[in-house]
Amino acid sequence: MRRSRTKSKNILLGVCSSAACFKALSLASALVKKGHEVKTVLSPSAAKLISPQLFSAVTKNEAFSEQFGESFAFSDGHISLSDWADLYVIAPATANTIGKLAAGICDNLLLTLAVSRRVKLFIAPAMESVMWKNGFVRENVAKLKSSGVRFIGPVNGRLASGSTGPGRMSEAEDIIKKLPL
Ligand SMILES: Cc1cc2nc3c(=O)[nH]c(=O)nc-3n(C[C@H](O)[C@H](O)[C@H](O)COP(=O)(O)O)c2cc1C
Repeated sequence: MRRSRTKSKNILLGVCSSAACFKALSLASALVKKGHEVKTVLSPSAAKLISPQLFSAVTKNEAFSEQFGESFAFSDGHISLSDWADLYVIAPATANTIGKLAAGICDNLLLTLAVSRRVKLFIAPAMESVMWKNGFVRENVAKLKSSGVRFIGPVNGRLASGSTGPGRMSEAEDIIKKLPL
């Protein structure tokens, strides 16, 4: 078997409730195949669109979606997950989560981890072009970029609605190429 020459990293993968959330499974799987350890945190809405169990199966690690779940019986549960991570990648990121991040809101575990992190945050947005071009979203993206958050994509392409334009989530391999692995 060919071994990866990159050093194994602990990657926290945040998944939001986008039509592109199935692509996060390919990303998780590709990262695991490259020898990285992946733990997934889904927004509560994402957990309605895609099962956290699928991420557990692919990553062989527990997938989290509840801020107040059993895994977090101790108040510093989010801190131990933050401390574990070498980098935090939110893919796909919705307009909603981008807005909350820009405002420092922590009303779910995915967001709390972004604010309590000590590591770099990478965001791969996914949304319809009309949302990506919206003034609120433009301002929120600019604010996050100016505080050091790295954006990967989105790219031009076919969107969930069937239209074509900017807003399509980057493919897993393109995201991986842009991560410091
Ligand atoms: C099937 C479906 C697909 C969606 N796709 C997107 C999307 O790609 N991008 C986006 O910004 N919002 C999308 N939404 C809307 C978000 O799910 C909604 O704004 C939600 O509140 C986001 O929550 P979250 O950011 O906590 O995951 C979609 C909703 C549904 C039901």
